[in-house]
Amino acid sequence: MRADIITIFPEYFSPLGVSLIGKAAARGDIEFHVHDLRQWTNDVHRTVDDAPYGGGPGMVMKPGPWGDALDVIIPEAGTGTAGEQAPRLVVPTPSGVLFTQDRAAGYAREHHLVFACGRYEGIDARVVAEARSRMPVDEVSIGDYVLAGGEPAVLVMIEAICRLLPGVLGNAHSVSDDSFGAGTPGVLKGRSHETGAAGGVGGVSPQVSAAGGVGGREASPSQAGAATGGRGMAGLLEGPVYTRPRVWRGREVPPVLSSGDHAAIARWRRDEALRRTAANRPDLVARLAAGGEGTEGGGQAVGTGTDLDARDRQVLADAGFTFSVPDPAS
Ligand code: 6GU
Repeated sequence: MRADIITIFPEYFSPLGVSLIGKAAARGDIEFHVHDLRQWTNDVHRTVDDAPYGGGPGMVMKPGPWGDALDVIIPEAGTGTAGEQAPRLVVPTPSGVLFTQDRAAGYAREHHLVFACGRYEGIDARVVAEARSRMPVDEVSIGDYVLAGGEPAVLVMIEAICRLLPGVLGNAHSVSDDSFGAGTPGVLKGRSHETGAAGGVGGVSPQVSAAGGVGGREASPSQAGAATGGRGMAGLLEGPVYTRPRVWRGREVPPVLSSGDHAAIARWRRDEALRRTAANRPDLVARLAAGGEGTEGGGQAVGTGTDLDARDRQVLADAGFTFSVPDPAS
């Protein structure tokens, strides 16, 4: 994959050389090109912003430098010859659609992403309007808070995308977690994706696999899955994890984890995931209780296999979760 980043703070992206992302880049799984927007200014002050039409506080990024930057970085845009290789423009903004694991998985399948980092009160809206006539464009937010600029949001998105690239993770089980988790293939396929089409909260839970082996034999994901009715952990938060020593400051690792009983371990992990999700993200439990994920954005429920059975509902009820819809299991 190729990723272009346009910003007035190129130095913000030095972390791309570090850790998981740095290794992916060194291996050639992803190629970064960071561009200083000010190289597309013409005046001596290298101005990129101006006062907003209609008044109000702050400054707006001028369209000129952005248009020229995109013309250079995406020269094939609009020619109709780029086919599947055509780039997708991602514009970080608190007004965008939410960046989810499904969206990260979709971006990980793209050949070329271009990130346009706005500062101040945003970029003149005509830049996105014009770009949309030539290429797929997503305005994306990473959460319900306001950052001073898109740069940290782009680092977050790239981290999430990079760990999904083939060959990035050392631990193959962690990759399968995302199919465990969600991954929901089909989102953002090819050219057909439109902003807002990605639904569902999937893959929230990395490291759910039963592998690891401290205090017992390893269980394959299929063994663990069989123990919980073949269901994945999609839409649930990960529960607590432990490693040696078995007793630390008087606190013991839950004995079930060294029992060697893979069915019991899988059930325990599911119970813990349900309890933590009920406590920290009741909205996610409500979505599962209402019939599964993938129902956001007007889509159909897609049967990702994380339905709640009677035991799940009992665990949730014991945790204080109240079902707003009639519970068919009771
Ligand atoms: Cl993508 N950009 C900015 N400036 N603020 C944000 C954001 C993005 N996502 C959440 N807050």
